[in-house]
Amino acid sequence: MTIAWDNRFNVGHSTIDAEHKALLMIINSIELALRHPDDKEALLYFFNLLYETAIDHFRYEEDLQIKHSYQHQQTNADGHKSLIIELTRIIDEIRTITEHAIISEEDMLSLRKHVSFLAKGWLLAHVVQEDLKMKGFIADKY
Ligand SMILES: [Fe+2]
Repeated sequence: MTIAWDNRFNVGHSTIDAEHKALLMIINSIELALRHPDDKEALLYFFNLLYETAIDHFRYEEDLQIKHSYQHQQTNADGHKSLIIELTRIIDEIRTITEHAIISEEDMLSLRKHVSFLAKGWLLAHVVQEDLKMKGFIADKY
């Protein structure tokens, strides 16, 4: 099931909010791609896009936080590192699954579990638990 953006997730910074929405859209695209599991190229394309977009987004946030001496900058950067480690582990597993000649029911369950985790435990944990602390501080800073 795809997840809709909730305005309560807005940090109040146009670039950061747009990038968070883009990350959610990519995760939703992965969910849609899972409905056509024979198209492994589409699946891998969106997983790679998620990885690249996440790296760019975290870099943007960290640079902005350093530039404006954000008090939780180090905690945020440490969180980003953990998120990338988790994402890399999931993508490695997904690459292995997509190398199978036929994606089994068991593989599909695993893929769905990972996508659900990426949406709720990975992206929303990043936005809700960490980035919302920037609300008010970062709004007018570029
Ligand atoms: Fe973020």
